[in-house]
Amino acid sequence: MKHIITLTLSPVVDKSTTVDRIVADQKLPCDEPRFEPGGGGINVSRGLKRLNVNSVAIFPSGGLTGQHLQDLLKAEHINQVPVLTEKLTRENFIVVNREVHEEYRFGMPAVELLPKEELEILRVIKNLSPKPKFMVVSGSMPPGSSEDFLAKVARIAQQDGAKLIVDTSGEALKNAVEEGVYLLKPNQAELSKLTDIEVKDKNTAEEAARKIIDKGKCEVVVVSLGAQGAYIASRGYNEHIAAPDIEKRSTVGAGDSMVAGMVYAAEKGLDLRQMVRMGIACGSAATMNAGPELFKRADAERLFAELIKN
Ligand SMILES: Nc1ncnc2c1ncn2[C@@H]1O[C@H](COP(=O)(O)OP(=O)(O)OP(=O)(O)O)[C@@H](O)[C@H]1O
Ligand SMILES: [Mg+2]
Repeated sequence: MKHIITLTLSPVVDKSTTVDRIVADQKLPCDEPRFEPGGGGINVSRGLKRLNVNSVAIFPSGGLTGQHLQDLLKAEHINQVPVLTEKLTRENFIVVNREVHEEYRFGMPAVELLPKEELEILRVIKNLSPKPKFMVVSGSMPPGSSEDFLAKVARIAQQDGAKLIVDTSGEALKNAVEEGVYLLKPNQAELSKLTDIEVKDKNTAEEAARKIIDKGKCEVVVVSLGAQGAYIASRGYNEHIAAPDIEKRSTVGAGDSMVAGMVYAAEKGLDLRQMVRMGIACGSAATMNAGPELFKRADAERLFAELIKN
């Protein structure tokens, strides 16, 4: 089944290693590095894979790191359509200091996308065959990308009758929302910026999400509230769901895991009540793992079974 595509405009190769201690001006012998593919949509594709659902990851890929990213995805059996770019795909660097159990996450800036590369990505999405049922756009927008890029993606989704799911920020998000989106997954900061309402709890999340739903351009808004769970708003159904009580290790990857859970549920034809719970289950399951590790399927299923009782 290739009816889910994910689009990642700022993909990355995550390189992680461990070192006994960090001191200046000395050689620091590191453990053998580990490499993982990353970036919003790519993580959604990886999360879906854990739930046994195939998707196609579309992303810009440049130079040797781009090739490495493609190899890493291939090793995980994730379908991909890389769009070749002039600039080198970035590589982030994560170092764990063994002495004090601290993790340092060095993030390189998103890589510029040239106008012709952006056009090529749009062309790829337009010419997909068969037409996708779900399009997921997740992660930050790179410098150089035009502000109406997501609006153009939204138009293609409408023409194709695909459900567009967006998890990003800034002006691009604003424009996409004005064009029309099936589901938005902002966190508190993203929703605050989008609506000019300071979102800090479920009441303010409700007020801000309603503002978007009432405009009629977006069917479902799922506001992720970190440890406070999530608030879902749509025309006919609204609810706040608390996050399950888990032992948190790292919240990195929680948002992408949540989106994967919701796309999984939507693809299986589950209703909104079940969909948001599967999202929370996958998001919270991701926080049980250290570092950028996504969720384990068994954890997500156990949390979902708990959440669905209420
Ligand atoms: N501390 C936590 N305890 C339990 N669950 C959590 C915690 N933090 C996040 N989650 C789960 O993950 C979901 C998404 O988290 P969050 O709101 O932090 O997303 P995000 O800000 O988009 O994350 P990201 O930094 O990955 O982009 C939450 O709705 C919740 O289910
Ligand atoms: Mg997020």
